[in-house]
Amino acid sequence: MTGFAARIRRATMVEHREAETRTFITRLASGTVPIAGFAQLTAQYLHIYRVLEQAAERWRDDDVAGPFADPALARVPALEADLAQLYGPGWESEIAQLDATRRYTDHLREHCSTSRPHFIAHHYVRYLGDLSGGQMIGRTLSGVYGLEQAGTMFYRFEAIPDARAYKTGYRERLDALPFSEAELETAVAEAQLAFRLNGGIFHEMGLIFPEDRTPAAA
Ligand code: HEM
Repeated sequence: MTGFAARIRRATMVEHREAETRTFITRLASGTVPIAGFAQLTAQYLHIYRVLEQAAERWRDDDVAGPFADPALARVPALEADLAQLYGPGWESEIAQLDATRRYTDHLREHCSTSRPHFIAHHYVRYLGDLSGGQMIGRTLSGVYGLEQAGTMFYRFEAIPDARAYKTGYRERLDALPFSEAELETAVAEAQLAFRLNGGIFHEMGLIFPEDRTPAAA
């Protein structure tokens, strides 16, 4: 693979490894974070996807960015349903943004509706991640927290039955981008930043829900 899809993947491998091995995420996937932590992470995602999907709406008819703004990816309705399940009917008043989330959404709001490379880079990090490791995490979480579909709808793409095929098409679209070298570089740098912004949320979540270091009884 030599196209832009391979380049952006290679350029974010270190950041991916860092995100993947963040303590909060590994603990979440192994079920040692209380369900309140899972609920709070879901709330943070709602803030992020509201901004990302507003930007997608803006690019829908654009020749270059439009093909990425696929309604089949939409996560906001699933996140709202999950939050209603996790918090109950008053969920809207329970979903304050963490500082790290505010930094992420401020950045998205500032750049993603006006710059194609920014939009595509942030889109890539979230949605291709959700269609990759996110699929495994979703299955694990359902088991760990005893949730059926309700509560983990975010991890299920009902309009995308074959995630692997979808990702192949997505990478073809990345390869076909008519970007200048400067725009490609902007997209790579933004994708790296997107990973760090996600890492910031895991870090803050880890402070709120610290690891229980109580030694096991002898
Ligand atoms: C426990 C945590 C994670 C695991 C186990 C995991 C696992 C994986 C795996 C196995 C792939 C490769 C899938 C494939 O080649 O089809 C992948 C790809 C990807 N992941 Fe993760 N991931 C995790 C966390 C994250 C996070 C936190 C993000 C970003 C917020 C992320 C973003 C991505 C992206 C963008 C890709 C696509 C790379 C590409 O092919 O261009 N991942 N992940």
